[in-house]
Amino acid sequence: MFNYKYLLQVFCFGIILVVQKTMQNTTLCTFPPGFKFGTATSAYQIEGAWNVSGKTPSIWDFATHNNFESIIDRSNGDIACDSYNQIDVDIANLQLLNVSFYRFSISWTRLLPNAGNNFINPDGVRYYNEVIDKLIAHNIDPMVTIFHWDLPQSLQDLGGWTNKLTIEYYLQFARTCFSLFGDRVKTWITFNEISMYCVSAYDKKSLAPFASLSGIGTYLCAHYMLLAHGRAYRIYKKDFIHQKGIVGLSIDSPWYFPATNTANDKMAAMRAIITGFDWLTHPIFSQTGDYPLFMRKRIDYNSKQQGFKESRLPRFTTKEKAILQGSADFLGLNHYTSKLASMPMSEKASEMTSYEIDRSFDISFDPKWPKSARNHFKVVPQGLRKLLLYIRDTYNNPIVYITENGYAGDHSEYIDDHDRVSYTNLYLTEILKAIVIDKCNVTKYTSWSFMDNFEWHDGYTLRFGMFHVDFDDPKRKRTPKKSMYAYRNIIRFGTLPRCLSFEKSI
Ligand code: BGC
Repeated sequence: MFNYKYLLQVFCFGIILVVQKTMQNTTLCTFPPGFKFGTATSAYQIEGAWNVSGKTPSIWDFATHNNFESIIDRSNGDIACDSYNQIDVDIANLQLLNVSFYRFSISWTRLLPNAGNNFINPDGVRYYNEVIDKLIAHNIDPMVTIFHWDLPQSLQDLGGWTNKLTIEYYLQFARTCFSLFGDRVKTWITFNEISMYCVSAYDKKSLAPFASLSGIGTYLCAHYMLLAHGRAYRIYKKDFIHQKGIVGLSIDSPWYFPATNTANDKMAAMRAIITGFDWLTHPIFSQTGDYPLFMRKRIDYNSKQQGFKESRLPRFTTKEKAILQGSADFLGLNHYTSKLASMPMSEKASEMTSYEIDRSFDISFDPKWPKSARNHFKVVPQGLRKLLLYIRDTYNNPIVYITENGYAGDHSEYIDDHDRVSYTNLYLTEILKAIVIDKCNVTKYTSWSFMDNFEWHDGYTLRFGMFHVDFDDPKRKRTPKKSMYAYRNIIRFGTLPRCLSFEKSI
């Protein structure tokens, strides 16, 4: 006999699926209420005015002036976007963009020319007060990065981030920032990209201080930065809690897909995430604290093989572990791209100490992934969703702010930056899926960058901005690009462009 009950069940199930799909399509258009959009820069990349009114050299001033062949176009940030002299223009452009917050960093040597707090430079205080006050007057929340790579050269002369003493100087700097600006700044990022800084400085020699000591300096540098972060967090919670702000840090990571479906390549992808991302997140966000066990074992073993009495990966004391554990109110994530990881033919081991050898996997790229002007920055939006899922599952779904995400154009790019518009749409779509479908706790998105700027060792050969900057013009004229208008619409409506009928024509 024909089973009507069964037919009815199938019919109802079908209806539920259609309703769910329709709901998902509409919710996959609009960001949840309270979701905030912003944009970002950093001091050395935009300010210029490298030696005015008492400012002393940072490692970037030193490197670009003395070691200029390490910068592709031999340029520097002496003038950069001239933002030191153009606060009003910048604020007007931020207002045009309609962002809720602006992430920028404080130049350590503009505020504390002696690195320590025995002298606070009045001009530094004036400049940052002006920026902060004007932002607030225009309803834009300041989100401040305390350290975005421009270490005082005087501290580098003492070993920089491989010298434990730098922690004490950093804490003086952080404390000065909290006490001068904390009445108005409510979101603090202690460090920008510890791993990018330490690996590029000590292993790859591609960022200042362009030092050696690979596989040794790299771990020391990250270790001391982590400790400085943890202690700055505790200082804020003890002495500045009345300011009612929040403190976190920005950690960079690509996503790694296994190059093939083999167990080996899956293991290689896991290695890549553990040794690149968990290296810095595990001590802060995990239940157990400390470095990931895999790193501990592997670097201890390699160090022993190489004849070291102590592991090249430093150890935290019990007290330090406790300081670090839970020392962030949010996880700032800087993400640009994904890579493929595969297991090498034989385990990489050598007498040479190197972070890359310790990690031991090979990198490649899927030829189908669209390119950008930076060779290894492919457009792989689905990788961001995977990374967000990984964070949710590994660290008990912490609050995540995307503190950087953006597209690299080349130096000839002017205002028709369609690829950047499409990149942003694709990445935001994946973020929305992570929020709506996967229930990841992402509450802020920051587009890198507000305007074209000094792109570290790539000088001015790459452009990340939503405003074009004419670096041949002494006034550094800014012109909005297509991406500025597109991002502004997303912010205005809190909605992805494919869901706005009028956007389809753009
Ligand atoms: C850094 C930025 C940089 C961007 C694009 C990030 O690693 O924090 O300062 O401009 O990547 O390369």
